[in-house]
Amino acid sequence: MSRSRITGLGLHLPERVVTNAELERLMDTSDAWIVERTGIRERRFAAPGVGTTDLAAEAARMALADAGRSPADVDFIVFATITREHAFPGCGSLLQERLGIPGVGALDVHNACSGFIYALAMADAVVRAGQYRCVLVVGAEVLSTGLDFSTRGRDLAVLFGDGAGAVVVEPGPDDGPGVLAWVLHSDGAHAKDLVCEAPSSLVQGRITQQMVTAGQHYPRMNGRQVFKHATTRFPEVIHEVLGKCGHTLDEVKLVVPHQANQRIGDAVAERLGVPPQKVFQNIQRCGNTTAASIPIALAEARDLGLVGPGDLVVLAAFGSGFTWGAAALRW
Ligand code: UT7
Repeated sequence: MSRSRITGLGLHLPERVVTNAELERLMDTSDAWIVERTGIRERRFAAPGVGTTDLAAEAARMALADAGRSPADVDFIVFATITREHAFPGCGSLLQERLGIPGVGALDVHNACSGFIYALAMADAVVRAGQYRCVLVVGAEVLSTGLDFSTRGRDLAVLFGDGAGAVVVEPGPDDGPGVLAWVLHSDGAHAKDLVCEAPSSLVQGRITQQMVTAGQHYPRMNGRQVFKHATTRFPEVIHEVLGKCGHTLDEVKLVVPHQANQRIGDAVAERLGVPPQKVFQNIQRCGNTTAASIPIALAEARDLGLVGPGDLVVLAAFGSGFTWGAAALRW
């Protein structure tokens, strides 16, 4: 069985920059609170009518060009998002149509902030099994259209941004660069700690006026619980994935975590006992883009020269479900 490797990276951020000052005009919040509690200074919002697949297509084309491939080379798509344009079908099929590659299989992954790690793991599995040779893995979100911008929703509305990242996964040499190991976890006992309840198949018509009035179509979070579990699970899963491939933290060049909150990223560095610069963070400029945050951050880190040939890189995520996971890569 050959190893799989990432051969191309791409990202796309919408043009519109939304500062904390802009959010101050919509709800009872302040730039000082947002910066102190989250580290976020600005995020991007997609223009009206621009969908998750639109952002994804841009990132995907960039990743394919980076890999020296064209859409015609793609033989499978794995698309991680919680912000599909439609309840169904998923974004994977829409992206396949957009790229003009009829018949190519497409899998949607609905694992929120951990979605990209799950999607990358599936791509690695099908490539190593010899099933596919050029898999496009995308994380993309338009979260801004589903947030409560009144004071009621301020805890979450200030966190999120829109964007897309993509990678191309292809077979690589057994002992060269590639995906060394991954681990995936979930704990549904915490489903209600970070949830968007509506629309719901439990309800006739999927949503009622009462649910809209109560804001159940907006995400809801027990922030402190999420924070507490995230700061424990991130270091744990990073050590776990390194143990699985027989490496140690000392050998790691860069950790690229899901961008949840700068304080979480800082706490992860502290608990791992590594300098803060070893944990890449771009949340200050992008906010939390859920499934898109890791591929966006990885592409930026590579472009900044923070990741290069031979480096050991660890990707890690934690989010709704709860779900969490990590992947170790030799670059
Ligand atoms: O990708 C995974 C998704 N989520 C996360 O990773 C987020 C994890 N959690 C967090 O990042 C933090 O819990 C938050 C940033 C969401 C909140 O920070 P916190 O330090 O845990 O604050 P808190 O929830 O304990 O709230 C402190 C106060 C509350 O007011 P009172 O009750 O003390 O009067 C909140 O109502 O801050 C208030 N607050 C705000 N104030 C101004 C909550 N959101 C805001 C806001 N602006 N946007």
